[in-house]
Amino acid sequence: MGNQKGMDRMGELLPAHIGLIMDGNGRWAKKRGLPRQAGHKAGASTFKRIVRYANRLGIPYMTVYAFSTENWSRPPEEVRGIIALLREFLSDAANYRDENVRTRFIGDLSQFDQDIQSKVRECEEVSAGHTGLTLNIAINYGGRMELMKAARELAAEAAAGKITPEEIDEELFARHLYTQGQPDVDLVIRPSGEERLSNFLLWQAAYAEFVSMEVLWPDFDEKCLDRAIEEFRNRNRRFGGV
Ligand code: FPP
Repeated sequence: MGNQKGMDRMGELLPAHIGLIMDGNGRWAKKRGLPRQAGHKAGASTFKRIVRYANRLGIPYMTVYAFSTENWSRPPEEVRGIIALLREFLSDAANYRDENVRTRFIGDLSQFDQDIQSKVRECEEVSAGHTGLTLNIAINYGGRMELMKAARELAAEAAAGKITPEEIDEELFARHLYTQGQPDVDLVIRPSGEERLSNFLLWQAAYAEFVSMEVLWPDFDEKCLDRAIEEFRNRNRRFGGV
């Protein structure tokens, strides 16, 4: 799918799909002499706040990187802490009901405990009919893993004689990604000054504008999102339509 670029109420260009790498929780905590978990906790509140704001702005799709396939290699205590925050978020299945946000989860969910898997399904079902922002929460997600999954599924279909290799084009391939049916990512935001994609949405972000910001994720606020969108608009003004 190509970009379905929308406009905000002022007629200004809005990104169709924002990818958000929530980075810098650990450094935020360290700066304050707090345990890393305090950074993740603060990061989780920032996450809820920014989702509400993105929805208010009229952003159609947003994907947040909450837990990567690589994050399992962190100390077990830290992994448990992040998963506890995820559980906390999930236990309120009515999250964003008033805001009309549609919540989805992307990644290999089979690695999580059964209670998490069923809460994830519940959360998705409860919000399936919501018509505001579509929020993808990436957990145990990795871009390469997602591409391999698509390749395996297509290979199996070809081996079973359901498709021929020649039929595999971008559109068919994209239908085997977690984000099937959603527009490409056109803006990736990474706070904490890092400038890496870190295995995030490798296919979907192929043509995205990448905006790196100095702020640490727990300090990321509404103004930061405004600034990133403004940067996205400026780049589109400079390079688009000539
Ligand atoms: C990266 O910061 C952050 C993470 C690996 C975890 C992100 C998790 C949350 C924001 C909270 C849980 C999410 C939900 C959906 C409730 P880092 O620890 O790598 O920071 P550092 O680079 O400064 O150490």
